[in-house]
Amino acid sequence: AGLTVYEWDNVYFPNWPWLKDAHLKALRTMPLREDDVFLCTYPKSGTHWAHEILDMLLTGKTDKHQLPTAPLAGMTMDYIEHELASPRIFNNHLYPKHMPEGATDKVKVVCVSRNPKDIAVSMYHFNKVSPEMGYDGEWSDFLPLFLEGKGIYNSWWEYTLQWWNAEKKNPNILWLTYEDMQEDCFHQIKRVDQFLDTGRTLDFMETVNKRCSFQSMTKSLQAQHTRFFRKGEVGDWKNWFTVAQNEEFDTFHQQKMKNSDFTVRFEL
Ligand code: PPS
Repeated sequence: AGLTVYEWDNVYFPNWPWLKDAHLKALRTMPLREDDVFLCTYPKSGTHWAHEILDMLLTGKTDKHQLPTAPLAGMTMDYIEHELASPRIFNNHLYPKHMPEGATDKVKVVCVSRNPKDIAVSMYHFNKVSPEMGYDGEWSDFLPLFLEGKGIYNSWWEYTLQWWNAEKKNPNILWLTYEDMQEDCFHQIKRVDQFLDTGRTLDFMETVNKRCSFQSMTKSLQAQHTRFFRKGEVGDWKNWFTVAQNEEFDTFHQQKMKNSDFTVRFEL
């Protein structure tokens, strides 16, 4: 029960028939606008949630949910350049080296990270319901694949450490976590408002907070986007990991992180 992926420049991408080498190359030189915002996440970190917050803050509108139909790698160049209105938000799972050239110096970037145990569980369920992933294995078969980075966008550790190292030196990057958003989303919305310089009122941000709750997003979006809304909780991993799997994961995590100053707040 392996995973079906499309490999490009040592990174596994979703196996979409239209995702080709030429498009990924073209993204590197796509023209940027100074008000572009890049939302960079490892899959299942809360991308859709953060996207709605960014969108409402940037547009000043909370009446409709605006989920994008595709991440950056799934949009055509024509759509990117001619159809997307400014300020454009590009959610993506690209490694820093595959981002449009100059993006992290010229425009704002928001990163979201999440406890990799919850990501593994979320990813497992996503793979099972997504035909393009070609996965029908059991949880116990999936966990080793996740640790080895055999799924889309490779290893969570590889991705997270590369962005962490880019973030440290760069005031254009704001780092959020799924866990902080769960604990006090209003506070995180205020941080984003400040970072993007959108200057929204507290009342407006309260509305954003309500409209971006799991319940509210699920209600208006689940019909078309079922696969992106599952449980929306911190710690669901406890329902899936055995004691042995958890110990193995902790040892693996410590090994991967031992030479890093990674301090993002979540309890493993
Ligand atoms: S993707 O495919 O990478 O874009 O998926 P992504 O949106 O990053 O992550 C999906 C998980 O986020 C949960 N989710 C939310 N949690 C809390 N609040 C809100 N509003 C919200 N919206 C989506 C979603 O349920 C997935 O997590 P799991 O753990 O599978 O429920």
